[in-house]
Amino acid sequence: MPPLKCLISAGPTREWIDPVRFISNPSSGKMGYALAKEARDMGFEVCLVSGPVELPKPIGIEMVDVESALDMKRAIDEKFSFYDWVIMAAAVCDHRSESSSKIKLPKEHFPENLSMTRNPDILKDLGKKKSKSQLLVGFAAETHMVLESARKKLKQKNLDWIVANDVSKTNQGFSSDQNAVTLISSNGLEKQIYLADKSIVAKEILHAIHLSWLEKAH
Ligand code: CTP
Repeated sequence: MPPLKCLISAGPTREWIDPVRFISNPSSGKMGYALAKEARDMGFEVCLVSGPVELPKPIGIEMVDVESALDMKRAIDEKFSFYDWVIMAAAVCDHRSESSSKIKLPKEHFPENLSMTRNPDILKDLGKKKSKSQLLVGFAAETHMVLESARKKLKQKNLDWIVANDVSKTNQGFSSDQNAVTLISSNGLEKQIYLADKSIVAKEILHAIHLSWLEKAH
């Protein structure tokens, strides 16, 4: 049997205002990279679409480096149809500056109020076009009403699974080496994964999804 093909996004996106300023978020990419390495170790063929992070490039994984949300969308849309599983662990910026300057803006010219425009929702668009045989996984980065918001996103984005991630605590989520999440499926399954190193959390997430995928296939 050919290996299962897994497309994973990780890290933040950067929305440039000019060559020395951007809007972004504190995502370190550690969760997405941990998922990519675990998927590789499970024998999957993995492609990692990564925003700017300070992590070593994992061996045995195809890498696509991107910066902005629009770059990430382009890269993922191009690859999407060739993959069995798509996991969006990236913290995509929802907005970008309406205009970006090729030259550094002197402070006198920097707008007092930056006009913003919405970035596309990459995951939601994938949910609209996924085939029956594809599996789509999202993350929900929340500070409150964590499970309620995650369940809502699972439905709204037509996902198979969502990883509910409470990012309000300093010892888990975003830049931390550890995480604690709840994995929720479209079939109503909910599995709590307790605080542990992101590599262990990644293993638990992927093994739970794989088990259910195998059960569905037989
Ligand atoms: N996502 C995406 N494109 C965006 C924003 C988010 O693909 N423009 C994906 C993320 O990769 C994640 C999921 O959607 O898998 C949920 O992201 P999150 O930031 O939790 O929620 P949003 O959909 O952006 O909603 P909100 O910010 O209103 O909570």
